Amino acid sequence: MNAELASKLDQLKRVARELVAPGKGILAADESTGTIKKRLDSVGVESTEETRRRYREILLTTSGAEEFISGVILFDETLRQSTRDGVPFSQHLKSQGVIPGIKVDAGAKPLAGHPGEKVTEGLDGLRDRLSEYADLGAQFAKWRGVITIDAAKGLPSDYCLTANAHALARYAALCQEAGIVPIVEPEVLMDSDNSIEVCEDVTNRTLNTVFQALFEHGVALEGILLKPNMVIAGKQAKRQAGPQEVAEATVRCLNRHVPAAVPGIVFLSGGQSDELATEHLNLMNRMGPHPWELSFSYGRALQAPALKTWAGDEGKAEAAQRAFYHRARCNGAARHGEWSAELEKERAA
Ligand code: 13P
Repeated sequence: MNAELASKLDQLKRVARELVAPGKGILAADESTGTIKKRLDSVGVESTEETRRRYREILLTTSGAEEFISGVILFDETLRQSTRDGVPFSQHLKSQGVIPGIKVDAGAKPLAGHPGEKVTEGLDGLRDRLSEYADLGAQFAKWRGVITIDAAKGLPSDYCLTANAHALARYAALCQEAGIVPIVEPEVLMDSDNSIEVCEDVTNRTLNTVFQALFEHGVALEGILLKPNMVIAGKQAKRQAGPQEVAEATVRCLNRHVPAAVPGIVFLSGGQSDELATEHLNLMNRMGPHPWELSFSYGRALQAPALKTWAGDEGKAEAAQRAFYHRARCNGAARHGEWSAELEKERAA
């Protein structure tokens, strides 16, 4: 480890551990302009700078959510926006004890020479952007690589795994240099017809490649968080594995590939229903203790009920906040394996 990184490591470790504090996890609210447009379209709201600001404001100003939310990943535009009262979102979050984070990748683009596969862009100029984001208050970052399964075409290729792992590792090293905790997100997509066994095999290959690259790039594992997919059957699979099977396969896969030095694993929800994402996390935490914290960094699984409730109607803003609070509370309980169907049915007062 170089001397410069060694001097920053205490701060990186502290922030990483705070992000996976007991009973807490991360809200991913960093949808790119294209993705948030799809989400807003789905509830009949036009995507404008102001509707995007207002929707994010509803989530970020939900009172009490800070009991279960340790950090929020923001999109560039949101990090520069403020509450109605003119308080920058990053400052508002900090005042609630919530750590602001930032998505820094520029999206997954077709991988040249490898039809059907993608590699994530955004490394050029990243050192300068990270320094600006740190000035704007971000203390952690996210970069997502996507891995597509298509067994008939032999995907993913080893080259796709290597290219994405290399980009993730370069990003992580640059973040740590800037004193920012990198969330390393290699997502094996569940949008196909593969079995859970194939997902486990591909997730094994992916994590193996990612940790090899992190080692080669000198990334300090104590100062990162891993954001993986769960090991799960594809959405169009003939057989959907049950929750216990998903929990066991996921923990088995992580045990094989994630060194104990990594403080926490914060899952993405990837298109699972909100309740199932909570149930899976709960089951995995019941199987503990584990060498790392097992937590959440959900986007859709934390936001879906709130978005649907609000749907652009100001009169529903408080009800939307209650819906978001409820999901945060359920996932907070799942951090301790204490979620239950009864808790799920309760609605916040
Ligand atoms: P989902 O939980 O909706 O998959 O989003 C998490 C995320 O941040 C994907 O990059």
